[in-house]
Amino acid sequence: MKIVIVHGQNHEGSTCHIARMLAEKLHGEVQEFFLPRQFGKFCTGCTTCFCKDETLCPHYKELRPLTEALNEADVIILASPVYVYHATGAMKAFLDHYGYRWMVHRPDARMFRKIGVCISTAAGAGMKSTNKDMADSLFFWGVPKIYKLGFSVQATGWEQITPKNKAKLERSTDQLAAKIIRCSGKVKPGIKTKAFFGMMRMVQKNGGWNPADHDYWEAKGWLGSARPWK
Ligand SMILES: Cc1cc2nc3c(=O)[nH]c(=O)nc-3n(C[C@H](O)[C@H](O)[C@H](O)COP(=O)(O)O)c2cc1C
Repeated sequence: MKIVIVHGQNHEGSTCHIARMLAEKLHGEVQEFFLPRQFGKFCTGCTTCFCKDETLCPHYKELRPLTEALNEADVIILASPVYVYHATGAMKAFLDHYGYRWMVHRPDARMFRKIGVCISTAAGAGMKSTNKDMADSLFFWGVPKIYKLGFSVQATGWEQITPKNKAKLERSTDQLAAKIIRCSGKVKPGIKTKAFFGMMRMVQKNGGWNPADHDYWEAKGWLGSARPWK
């Protein structure tokens, strides 16, 4: 099993420890990226990726190692500490670069077989909105199975987390790892993904938002009977 962890921060704190804890329990091949150290660009808003081609993005080359890792992974773990109730700016800036991959534009067919995990930690609260920040991208990329782990660690660093809370983290990651191992290689889109894909298909059939998107759907055969999960 190939696992990629994208860390929304550079440091190895509580969130990083928990993401690694889960990844180790999956007994796969793990690749990690820390943001912004390994990718720290902001989207310029040129919309070239949407209107023409993502390879023309000014950050395409720097983003490519992360994109390739996402494409090849069986499990994508997006992990971010809660910063003012949301994912870190670095995580958001990273995800902005994949707007063109949303189902409304040009989703990558490989996404429809993957498992996604969103992990966030807060000193107190904000895990729900933070996990949603990341889960939204996974869903709209087409990832059919998305798990969310949010922990109020009552700490600002890994060393401060109490043994009782660390034991809870172990239990939660044990349970999730078992679920992921059980369903790995067998995930298929559910009704929500299929319905959304169907709506986007109708939009593309009627010309789409731009010729680049429409031509992509046509070339994939998705305007006919082909589907990315088949
Ligand atoms: C800029 C910043 C904003 C934060 N905002 C929140 C917040 O909105 N809610 C909260 O409970 N904790 C907040 N925290 C605390 C962290 O989310 C919390 O300590 C987290 O577990 C840190 O994870 P890390 O060790 O992986 O960095 C914030 C911390 C920072 C640095």
